[in-house]
Amino acid sequence: MAFPQERPRRLRASAGLRALVRETALRPDDFVMPFFVRPGKGLKRPIKSMPGQFQFSPDELIKAVGPLAAVGVPAVILFGIPDRKDAKAAGAYDADGIVQRAAALLKDRYPELVVIADLCFCEYTDHGHCGVVRQDGTIDNDATLELAAKAAVSQARAGCDVVAPSGMMDGQVAAIRTALDGAGFAQTPILAYAVKYASAFYGPFRDAAESPPQFGDRSTHQMDPANLREALREVDLDIAEGADMVMVKPAMPYLDVLAAVRARCSLPVAAYCVSGEYSMIKAAAAKGWIDERKVTLEALTSIKRAGADFILTYHALAAARWLA
Ligand code: PBG
Repeated sequence: MAFPQERPRRLRASAGLRALVRETALRPDDFVMPFFVRPGKGLKRPIKSMPGQFQFSPDELIKAVGPLAAVGVPAVILFGIPDRKDAKAAGAYDADGIVQRAAALLKDRYPELVVIADLCFCEYTDHGHCGVVRQDGTIDNDATLELAAKAAVSQARAGCDVVAPSGMMDGQVAAIRTALDGAGFAQTPILAYAVKYASAFYGPFRDAAESPPQFGDRSTHQMDPANLREALREVDLDIAEGADMVMVKPAMPYLDVLAAVRARCSLPVAAYCVSGEYSMIKAAAAKGWIDERKVTLEALTSIKRAGADFILTYHALAAARWLA
């Protein structure tokens, strides 16, 4: 027999050996838990298409966030569902808006918690689009930037630790950075949804956030799932504009993109394991076809292995508990 002969199985022979050579380990502080918050009191409304997830009123949100710290999950990202929607997304930059109020409450109650605010307008507009819509139905990029600037400042003022623009408007990171700096928030980081695909995996989210577009779709601003090189250009642009962290979204179907982004830059890279990814696991597990715990931890490990420094996942609390 010729030597050296590789025998990879030698290192798989026992749990101890496997642990010694394991390359990727998940930790609770890899996770960010998304929450949907809406005005009201005592509300904890199940989201049909996302079993185990809820729309919370601020008082209930406080209760739901409590267990995260206990298991070591350091951060949440907030999505608001306002009472009223209009053409200019006023609820997104109202000092008394739902995310602003929820963030202030959370920071008051849990000063150590990292509160990230998603910054987009689709939940706040009556037409469900991510920006200002012109007469002809197209989205006015630069008019939307003015709103994004206002929303970012208002979120920072409310106490949000990080703003996360997800609208995929050109120039949004620069507009937000300039506005934050001008308003005295030079220390507030921007987590840019740099690479956000026009994905059908967001289906359950639109149900959860009550934000489906009333006409058309998001393919004029979100990316074509077929494109990788374009993702790298988006990352370069967002970094040049001042992003502190960049995100790839969705996660599992785009692990190649995640790995390429990781290789491209030295900023922290986040991955968003989106609603459809969550709901597929929940649905198959409910049927008894897969083991929710094993599949979820395997999926999250893959996302980290591909290059994510942290992962936004609806499984954050459950996964942290499973890891304990
Ligand atoms: C936009 C936004 C969306 C998601 C996060 N931010 C929806 C969209 O672009 O249609 C999707 C998240 C998920 O599916 O879990 N506000």
